[in-house]
Amino acid sequence: ANLGIVIPAAGQGKRMGAGCNKQFLQLKGQPILIHAVRVFQMSDYVSEIVIVGAENDLALIKELVDHYKLDKVVSVCQGGAQRQDSVRSGVLALSPAIQRVVVHDGARPLLTLKDFHRFLQEAEGFSAAIMGIQVKDTIKQVNNSGIVTDTLPRELLRAVQTPQIFERNKLEEAHMRAASVGYYGTDDASLLEWIGYPVQMIEGSLENIKVTTPEDLWLSERILAMREK
Ligand code: CTP
Ligand code: MG
Repeated sequence: ANLGIVIPAAGQGKRMGAGCNKQFLQLKGQPILIHAVRVFQMSDYVSEIVIVGAENDLALIKELVDHYKLDKVVSVCQGGAQRQDSVRSGVLALSPAIQRVVVHDGARPLLTLKDFHRFLQEAEGFSAAIMGIQVKDTIKQVNNSGIVTDTLPRELLRAVQTPQIFERNKLEEAHMRAASVGYYGTDDASLLEWIGYPVQMIEGSLENIKVTTPEDLWLSERILAMREK
């Protein structure tokens, strides 16, 4: 039980257009962020959780942590301009004893304890592993004029989710090296790929969506309602 969790939650939720950070919107009476953190609070494999928030949200996040008695949360720290900057601050806030780190988006409220534990089991033995799902649509590449330049082989494509798990020293190394040269990737695994470290893909869950646009809210409500039955 010495897994550390980093929850990046310092975004602005621009695509949601809610006028506040989307992670404070409620699903079944609880903020999205709380749904996202609760699964790790419940897991016996997890010893500490760091939540990374925007400067203006820190006080509210701390209040929520107290209110929901999330006693594994050891730090609520301030994020940066990009998600990658936020994750880097979060990793640095973990205590030295933590050797394996899971990164999970604060905007993914639907990860189940069962899927998280299956992920941990399948990730065992790999220094980096990530959840992703097979894509349902055909994915094409286009140029700036919208002309199709390629149709990618669908069976080889995965849409990537979180959780992503890493050996702490490799994740820290990747983040520090990327920061030192200003390299930005779109997820944490891409930073390890950039160095040349192997990353294992593990089958994710179709229900583990990221709440990004307004329709994701009702979809999330429907998924939660279905689980209650
Ligand atoms: N995130 C973060 N720090 C940032 C940007 C994003 O911690 N500087 C977090 C978000 O809070 C979210 C996760 O990274 O939990 C995934 O990002 P995304 O879904 O893009 O959320 P936002 O950036 O908030 O939304 P948008 O891009 O629509 O503004
Ligand atoms: Mg964003």
